[in-house]
Amino acid sequence: MGIAASSATHGAARPIMDDAEFERWVRLLESRTGVIVPPERKPFLETGLRRRMRETGHTEFRRYYDELLDGARGAMEWAALVDHLTVHETHFFRHMPSLNLIRDEWLPQWLAGVPADRSLHALSVGCSTGEEAYTLAMVLDAALSGFEPQRLFGITATDVSQPALAMARQALYPMHRLAEIPPNYREHAIETVDGEQFRIVEKLRRRVGFACVNLLHASRAPLRKLDLIFCQNVLIYFARERRGELLDALARLLQPNGLLVLGPGEASNWTHPQLVRTGGRQTLAYLRTTKEIPA
Ligand SMILES: C[S@@+](CC[C@H](N)C(=O)[O-])C[C@H]1O[C@@H](n2cnc3c(N)ncnc32)[C@H](O)[C@@H]1O
Repeated sequence: MGIAASSATHGAARPIMDDAEFERWVRLLESRTGVIVPPERKPFLETGLRRRMRETGHTEFRRYYDELLDGARGAMEWAALVDHLTVHETHFFRHMPSLNLIRDEWLPQWLAGVPADRSLHALSVGCSTGEEAYTLAMVLDAALSGFEPQRLFGITATDVSQPALAMARQALYPMHRLAEIPPNYREHAIETVDGEQFRIVEKLRRRVGFACVNLLHASRAPLRKLDLIFCQNVLIYFARERRGELLDALARLLQPNGLLVLGPGEASNWTHPQLVRTGGRQTLAYLRTTKEIPA
């Protein structure tokens, strides 16, 4: 590891990352989050690290690495850094076929199989800045409105990035993102704030709780048994060998008749004794059979 000459534009020393240094960071990120960074993504890792190191006044990758491993202070710094090393791209209504499956096929069946006063509990895994969770809230709210007695639902949305979760809790989005929300949902889901931003309405915000949970530790998290688990565009960043065990852990959180929805192609070879594939070819979803798995 070395320090390059001062850059002409920023006037600051620019740390250089050799292959051994890159390997160390890749191993650290994978062991702590499951996310793998292939060699072609080295610039992404370097850029994220440099950005955070500039904020904290670090000039050497090695010293910064050592500090990250150093007790409680290191743990606090890791919590800030992980946001710079993970991809947060997300959209409202990102994968329509999955949402249609939930609304048109799974939900009517699920409702028919539970008592009228039973509320629905969903989980959005790797929720980033909240769009996925609020999308689920919009879809469930619209589908469940009009039932008598009222059908309630709650969504827990989790991510490893605290800054992303802070933005999700605010539920404020720039106006141009409104185009992602189908017009028929907008009236009951958003309120404009100042011409430049809109906010998810309180009625829906109340249905969503955000929590910092590392997917690697999901089986240890105090999550209740769930009826719907939505996990899209997260596992693609994980090593293939690891995806199966993480999905097994998510499957254990599912109630009988519960639905697990992944992104198409994210784990197509995975199977589970209590889960059956459901939905068409445009989706990758699994239904938990009614058999209870002994704890
Ligand atoms: C590309 S975003 C996907 C957001 C959303 N699920 C969607 O499909 O639009 C991936 C998210 O996964 C989160 N993530 C990465 N590793 C994680 C882990 N080990 N535990 C929980 N979340 C993680 C990242 O912080 C990021 O916000």
